[in-house]
Amino acid sequence: MELAPAGTVFSGMPKGNADLLIVHAAELIRCSGARDGIRRSDLERLELIADGALAIGSGRILAVGSTEELLRAYTAPRIIHASGRLVSPSFVDPHSHLVFGGSRHLDYEAKVTQRRPGRALAGGIGFTARATSTTSDDELIRRALADLDAMLVHGTTTLEAKTGYGVSVEEELRLLRLTAGLRHTVDVVPTFLALHVLPEDYAGRRDRWIQEITDALPEAAGLARYCDVSCDPVCFTFDECLRVGEAARSLGMKIRVHADQTGDANGAALAARLAASAADHLDYANPPGLRALATSGTVATLLPGVALHLCELTPGIRDDQLVAAEKPFLPMLVRQAIAAGAVVALSTDYNPGSCPTVSMQVVMQLAARLFRLGYAEIWNMCTLNAARALDLADDRGSLEVGKRADVLVWTVPEHGMVINRFGSNLVDTVIAGGQVVVEAGRIARGEPTRGTAK
Ligand code: NIG
Ligand code: FE
Repeated sequence: MELAPAGTVFSGMPKGNADLLIVHAAELIRCSGARDGIRRSDLERLELIADGALAIGSGRILAVGSTEELLRAYTAPRIIHASGRLVSPSFVDPHSHLVFGGSRHLDYEAKVTQRRPGRALAGGIGFTARATSTTSDDELIRRALADLDAMLVHGTTTLEAKTGYGVSVEEELRLLRLTAGLRHTVDVVPTFLALHVLPEDYAGRRDRWIQEITDALPEAAGLARYCDVSCDPVCFTFDECLRVGEAARSLGMKIRVHADQTGDANGAALAARLAASAADHLDYANPPGLRALATSGTVATLLPGVALHLCELTPGIRDDQLVAAEKPFLPMLVRQAIAAGAVVALSTDYNPGSCPTVSMQVVMQLAARLFRLGYAEIWNMCTLNAARALDLADDRGSLEVGKRADVLVWTVPEHGMVINRFGSNLVDTVIAGGQVVVEAGRIARGEPTRGTAK
């Protein structure tokens, strides 16, 4: 889509009609930048408009500018006065495992107290897969919709959601059908992640599992926008992932990669080779792999909530079953990825094991503390670059004319305060596709749209 220059308002012309105006924002941040993602030092730039305003019509952004300019140019039946409040794009969360059964909170206690051995990553995923297999469709849908409600209230309006907890390929397809059938104000983008970890029943029969997944891809391609593969020493090899990734691509699916989470499996290079939309985790990615991501335009999605929750940054209480060697110093890895020219995004990786948070605000706060990123970098990584990770940067992720009107009005006046004031939900109002869906921190009456196509 061709976008008109943002903030262009012509004085002296008759007033245009908008459906909704937001005026007198203490600070309005646009998070705009190159359509193929914000890179390197551009990440440190954030355009701020003081006393900012936004005009919305037919679900799209009509104009962005100062309150004076927009009140001169537009009338609207509804005006939100945002005095004393920050206005920003809403969050795009590009990595989650939304549909699952059971809980792994007892594993977390085992890990932090070290009173008994916790489950390693693959064992934890197997535990969730068994719990998921005994949970009914209705219950899985109920839980997923409740999680989507919570995400919406915390400011997320677009979410990628993967399968990955199937004990069999039939079970993976059940989870994909449920995911693709979810109807919610949060726009859910489904991903088929059958190549996650080898299910217990397939121990010693890796090729069989890969063949069954490959056979299921034509059906999966009709339901999912993406195929994800897990390229990691405790999951699948470069060649196994390449086989499934190439088969998925030949069916028109786009690719995502869980890459190098617990060790260097050359997952970053695999993602680049498959021209993947995103490579996620990357804790052990090697430097040539990071450079390859920059060249292929594959978004490097970093997951600070996982580093926190798996105790990977706390000396003395790391889980030796999971972490064979000391993790590379993660802030340095993040700087390496930025310096290599990769488009870096942030995400929750919402799942019951490695990161059970629905909140992109928490992710921002952890990215500052654990990755030592600056406020502007973090905002750009959670908005436009996150949209790029879902191939949606032309349509959302920034406050620019022509884009979907996905907007947050905050309880605080400045963007840095969202990152500094950790621990509570600071979102006041959420606008999704031009509709006010959250008001005063609560879901608005009649919202959200929720249900299932099943
Ligand atoms: O953190 N390789 C996959 N790792 C998953 C773990 C999910 C879980 O522990 O249930 C991830 O993305
Ligand atoms: Fe994940």
